Amino acid sequence: MAAPANLTRDSGVQFASDVRAGLCKEGQKVLPSKYLYDPLGFTLFEAISRLPEYGLTRADERLLRRHAQEIVRHVPSPALVSELGSGSGRKTRWILSALCEREPVSYYPIEISRAALASCQSELGDIECVSIVGVEREYLDGLREVAALRADGVCLLVLFLGSTIGNFDVGADARFLSDVRRVLAPGDSLLLGVDLLKPRERMLEAYDDPLGVTAAFNLNLLGRINRELDADFDLRQFEHVARFNDAARSIEMHLRSKRRQVVNVRRGAFAVTFGEGETIWTESSHKYTQAEIAELAVSCGFRTEAQWVDDEWPFAENLWLAV
Ligand code: AVI
Repeated sequence: MAAPANLTRDSGVQFASDVRAGLCKEGQKVLPSKYLYDPLGFTLFEAISRLPEYGLTRADERLLRRHAQEIVRHVPSPALVSELGSGSGRKTRWILSALCEREPVSYYPIEISRAALASCQSELGDIECVSIVGVEREYLDGLREVAALRADGVCLLVLFLGSTIGNFDVGADARFLSDVRRVLAPGDSLLLGVDLLKPRERMLEAYDDPLGVTAAFNLNLLGRINRELDADFDLRQFEHVARFNDAARSIEMHLRSKRRQVVNVRRGAFAVTFGEGETIWTESSHKYTQAEIAELAVSCGFRTEAQWVDDEWPFAENLWLAV
């Protein structure tokens, strides 16, 4: 079977191998959350971000809209802007427009999703004085490429919005931010959007909405495996589960098998058996405390320059300076 148009041959092989490793693992079955974002998954995530129960994206956007001028005042000039996981780019408009008031801006969104890059180009392409160059790479590879392009005396402003940092495994968030720091030079900045711990019921509603959009987003991962790896998951025989892990302070998404069943993944050349009630762990979304964010900055080689917190949905925009 030919690789679908949106995958390079290599990434198709990587997908098959990650799916095999995650589903054939002893104990808890897992699938990496980055695979939730094929074109349909990306569209479903856009719908999630508009749900009344999911306030995260609106809080992020509100903070950027209200404070963009002040945020950019902390960023040295001239600056080159790069974004890790731009998504549709809607929220980024405020920062780019504020920067444009003082100088022309080069903006490099880094995404593994070609659909997201295309949507970002069309969302932001109308801002005069911003030139957009999409980078279809994993975050760190893309960032190294962008950092290598900057001229002497130009500072880098890296945007990592939407609390995507919360989707990293325990400990991997700090490792990743330290890796980002190593690509930066002293004086460069990182604007990091982080979702804060809030009452349990509010968090659970956000990840198990009554319309079932988050359930569809989660189940689409099995649909993607069917489409791209010629598998035979019966999506009606799995259900979406969202639970809060108190110890990890994370919302976990799982897909629970409604009965005992065997699934064939033909392009991966393996079959997997699910017991009734067995789950596949598909995503963790860590919720941070203020103290944790402050410690993270220091341990990863940054100094907190400023922070803005939303008054409707506990969410923090953090401007860190590389030291
Ligand atoms: C992209 N990321 C920050 C989202 C989150 O809230 O963890 C992904 C998501 N998963 C379910 N709903 C939204």
